[in-house]
Parts: sequence; C-alpha cells; structure tokens
Amino acid sequence: MRTIKKTVLSLLIGFCPMAGFGQKAQIDKLFKLAEQQTDVMLKEIPAVSQANAKAPLVSPRTLSPTRALQLVAARDWTSGFFPGELWYLYEYTGKDKWKEEARAFTAKLENEKNNAGTHDMGFKIYCSYGNGYRLTKDPAYRDVIIQSAKTLTKRFKPAAGIIRSWDHHKEVWQCPVIIDNMMNLELLFAATRLTGDSAFYKVAVAHAKTTMKNHFRPDNSTYHVIDYDTLTGKVLKKNTHQGYSHESAWSRGQAWGLYGYTMCYRETKDKTFLEQAEKIARYMLDHPRMPKDLIPYYDYDAPGIPNEPRDVSAATVMASALYELSTFSANGKHYRAKADQVMKNLAANYVSPVGQNKGFILLHSTGSKPANSEVDVPLSYADYYFLEALLRQKALK
Ligand code: GLY
Repeated sequence: MRTIKKTVLSLLIGFCPMAGFGQKAQIDKLFKLAEQQTDVMLKEIPAVSQANAKAPLVSPRTLSPTRALQLVAARDWTSGFFPGELWYLYEYTGKDKWKEEARAFTAKLENEKNNAGTHDMGFKIYCSYGNGYRLTKDPAYRDVIIQSAKTLTKRFKPAAGIIRSWDHHKEVWQCPVIIDNMMNLELLFAATRLTGDSAFYKVAVAHAKTTMKNHFRPDNSTYHVIDYDTLTGKVLKKNTHQGYSHESAWSRGQAWGLYGYTMCYRETKDKTFLEQAEKIARYMLDHPRMPKDLIPYYDYDAPGIPNEPRDVSAATVMASALYELSTFSANGKHYRAKADQVMKNLAANYVSPVGQNKGFILLHSTGSKPANSEVDVPLSYADYYFLEALLRQKALK
C-alpha cells in the first residue's frame, strides 16, 4: 500500500508544474547558502598567515587536519576555482559585490598565463578568466585567455598526439598524461573561437582522440595516468596516482573524463566524443558499487567499500557534466534525472551548516586517499562544480 501511495505521489510530482517551482526554490536556497558561506570565507582569507609562503597565497583550497583554512599560490592547479565561484555568484545574483570580488581574485592569477610548467592552465585560467570573459566581455580577459592557450600548446607532443601533463616524477614516467587533462581542452577551443586560429582546436582534438584510444579499458572505465614515449607515441605504462591501484577506477578521474568528452562534443559535434561520454556515464551510474545516493566512493574498486571515504568532488563534476550531456544525448531525460538526484542528495546530506567550515559549501570530498592527503574534507573544486551544476540545472528548467 505504501509503495502504491509513493508511486502515485511521484507520478503526480512528475507531472505537476509546481515541481518546477520547488526546484527553483531549492536552487535559490542553495545560492543563498553559497553567498553566506562565501561571506564567511572572505572574512577568513585575510587572517591566513603568509609568513612561510614562497609565493603569495591567493585562493582557498581546503581545510587542514586541524580545520584551518588552506590557501594556495597562483601556480597551484586549484587556484582558479574560488574566483570561478565568485563569478558564478555574480551570474546568479547579478550583485556588483560579487563581480568586484571576482575581478579582484581573478587578477591575482594573471602571471599564470606564461607558466608553461604545467598542463593545469584550463583549470586555473578558464574557471577564472574564462568565466570572467563570458560574463563581462572585458578585452583584457580575452588577451589572458589567448596567451594562456599559447603557453599550454607548448606542452603538445605532435608525434604522440598529446599534451604532457606533469613534469614531476621524471624517475617514474617519461611523459605522463592524466585523464584530468581533458578539462584543460576547453581553454583551447575558446582560444580558437576568439582568434580564428584553428591550431588550438587541432591540438585539443588530437589530445582528446589519443586519450580516447589509450586511456580507456574495455569496460569503459579510465586509467588515471598513461605514460608515453614522445618520439613514437608508444604507451609505456598504465598507472594510477590518486586511485586505489593501477587497475582500479578512481572516481574523480571517471568524472573528469565524462565532463571532458561531453565538452568536446559541444565544441566539435564529433559523435565519437558523445558516444564516449555516454559510455562513461553508463559506467559511473550503473556500477554496482555506486552508492544509492549517487555520491561515489573515492574509487569504485576501493577494497573497504562501504567503509571508504566518499568523494563529493567526483559527484559535483559528474552532475554538472550530466546536465550538459542531457542536452545532447537521446538518453537525456535519464541523465538529467540522475543529476537532479545527485543535487538533491548533496543538498540534503553534504552541505556545511551556515557559518562553519571556514565558508566551504560542501563537505566529504577526497583529494588523494593513497597519499592520505585531503581525505573527507571540503575542496574548492567540489564547490565550484556544484555552483556550475546549479546554474545548469536552472538553465534547463
Ligand atoms: N587534477 C587533480 C585532481 O583531480 O586531483
């Protein structure tokens, strides 16, 4: 009887125009919370000591084991997320206050446009300057985006068809490429749109195609790190760095892949990218070890499941990607419903109480479990993709 009542109720909600109002109210509520938390964070930031820093600490990243706010220098891969969150707050609320803060935090990253020592340019510059340009059309932001894309393409290895990810661990890998690198391609597509120079686009497409060939297993899960011989393009190693083992499926890596191939389809309309994104979505959503609330464990193959840490950042990247995928895929309704489920569960069980956790919005992310670093903590990128997913959810209504 209870099941019948529940089914009738959910059918009614499904057809009821009021359901849309409920979702709008929920999005409003979560942005209100995000504003309150960001106010807290803006008060906390100046109190963080710069005393032992080699370079100015500019953006929040996480909380330390003693729950102190951790800031990072501009060169850190996470430095663009907080400016990006400020741009999203401005986009949703239209308040000048958020635009001014966004401008101030974005400006601190400008020198990164010339930093060729990392592949993380898209994370740093597209989340900050990219959103800033989208919302203001400031020509100075456009110039930073173009210069950053030029710098990033210096890492392209034509014979192998990939952009080199890391320069560290030279004793382990000759030319490592991580699945995360798919996220940096959005900057290159933007640079071609802004300049009319197809060179950036070609590098992005080559990287996406080579990654599609070498990173994925027959079950459609992705490896984290692929090591290349840059002269022959031969794959030397298939490894992990932040996952449980070389043959396991690190959750955030799967989410980066899902987001990356969805974005590549948006930019190219190449059907093989859409199919790849759909395959990853199926892997993530239908996996027997995906928890009922759709917030993944840090790795699908972590041996202690269900007593393993979750990774909320994997959930927010996945949700944001699923909203976009829902606009392209014949299976769109399903993906949108799953993303809605993730957002509902995050709102119900994973948000910080107002005024706590130094102003982070979401709890329970995992940076690197094998390194015992940032386990079960807030992370700025979980919050960034959460706000992006909320904006996408709103746009789809
Ligand atoms: N891009 C680094 C990470 O996902 O942890």
